[in-house]
Parts: sequence; structure tokens; C-alpha cells
Amino acid sequence: MTHAPQHSIQVVAHRGASEDAPEHTLAAYRKAIEDGADALECDVRLTADGHLVCVHDRRVNRTSNGRGAVSALELADLTALDFGSWKTGEAGRGRDEEPDWENRPEDPADTSVLTLERLLELVADAGRRVELAIETKHPTRWAGQVEERLLVLLKRFGLDTPAGADRSPVRVMSFSARSLHRIRAAAPTLPTVYLVQFLSPRLRDGRLPAGVGIAGPSIRILRNHPGYVERLKQAGHRVHVWTVNEPEDVDLCVDLGVDAIITNRPRAVLSQLGR
Ligand code: G3P
Ligand code: CA
Repeated sequence: MTHAPQHSIQVVAHRGASEDAPEHTLAAYRKAIEDGADALECDVRLTADGHLVCVHDRRVNRTSNGRGAVSALELADLTALDFGSWKTGEAGRGRDEEPDWENRPEDPADTSVLTLERLLELVADAGRRVELAIETKHPTRWAGQVEERLLVLLKRFGLDTPAGADRSPVRVMSFSARSLHRIRAAAPTLPTVYLVQFLSPRLRDGRLPAGVGIAGPSIRILRNHPGYVERLKQAGHRVHVWTVNEPEDVDLCVDLGVDAIITNRPRAVLSQLGR
């Protein structure tokens, strides 16, 4: 049943359509675009030779057939790995377990490591407006350089200086206030999202680090502290919630009036919102 919101809520594909395809791969992002997602979320890390790649964990062990920290590997090392088979049941799962991803693409490039540059190209070629929510992952040995490289890349795609924050096709998110500070210092008009995992007393009144316009609380925070959204709104902030996969949580987000829902299941959430 649809629970139609009174205001428009953006649906953001978390690591791509990551319920249906391996997270952070071209396959997952293509599916999210096909599904009609308004925006794509991706985590970025810097390789040992200075390339930004879309990988969540510090190490590649969980999502590939390789081992080691992204920050210690070069892009060529990562390109040799398979970031899809963990999801198909071909590697790392018991024989009797059903694979949870059945439509594996033929082209290995669809499930190899994804550079942020390639993701930006995919979005540029999408044929419709698709926004990007890019998360800088910390801690990392390359702190500072991540933000520097990110801004160089965004500049190359003409995305570093949006005319107005409300219309920006890109925003930068982080749990690290220092990372967002670096972004704002170099690109003051780029919208930033402060991700909140624990509602510390310092954050409870709805205040965010200076200059940050958007709050990114977890859905768990909203379940336990629904009044937090109102406090954020009263403080003038937008609210983007992660990771919202259950229908009752989507309803909660609608009722609280959040601005964006970040989900592994963009198609299901869009349907629930009547889109
Ligand atoms: O979209 C924010 C969310 O992705 C933060 O958590 O661990 O999934 O990166 P994580
Ligand atoms: Ca993330």
C-alpha cells in the first residue's frame, strides 16, 4: 500500500541498488538509475596511487576476492579483483545457500572496482537528472588528500561550484566534521551532510557543525528520537536518513517529513511512495 507524502522526498540508492546487485559496482548503479532513483550514494576511498574508488570498507576482504586495505593497494591491484562473486554465492558462501543475486552480468567490468570518475561518467550519461551523495570515509591514511582529489574530480566535471545549494546535483557527506570542514573551506557552495550515528548530547538540540546544511541521521535514531527531525528543521536543516529498507521505516520518514530516504531498495521505496 502506498503511504503518499505531502512533500517530495528524494529516494537515494545506497551503494547503488545494493539489494539487487553487488554494492558499489556499475551493475548496482545502472540498476538504480533504471529503477528511477533520484540520487546515488557512494563511499569513496583513495588508493595508494591516488585514485578515488567506490568502496565502503577499509579493506576489500568482504566485497571482493582479494585482501588488504584500499589505501595500501594501487588501482591496478583493485582492477584485478572481482567485486561481484561474494554476492552470487560463487565465493565465500556455503554450497547449499541460495545465491542472492541471480542476474549476474556477462561483462566483468560491471562488477570490477568502480572509480568515482567512472561513476561520474555514468551519471553524466544517464539521460536524466541523477544526483550524487558522495561520502568520504574516515579514518584513512590519506586524510586531506581524499577531499583534495574529490574536488579536483568534481571540478573536472563542472560540479564543484553549484549555483545554489538547493539545486546542486552533488553533495558531500561524512561522519567526519573535519572532512566536511575541508570541503567547505575549498568549495563553500557545495552542500554538505553531517552523518549522525549516535545522538550525543551536543547534537540533540538540532545543531550541526558550522556551515553544514544537511543532517544525515540513521533510521535507528529516528525510531528512538522522532522529535529530532523537528529540532533539525527548526534549526533550518534538511534531513537525509539512512539506511531505510523496511516499509514501516519508510512510513515513519514520510510522517516525520524527512527530505531524503537513503535505501538499498530504491524501486520498492519509490513504489511505496506512489512513484
Ligand atoms: O548514507 C549514509 C550511510 O551510508 C552511512 O553508513 O556505513 O553505510 O556508509 P555506511
Ligand atoms: Ca555510505
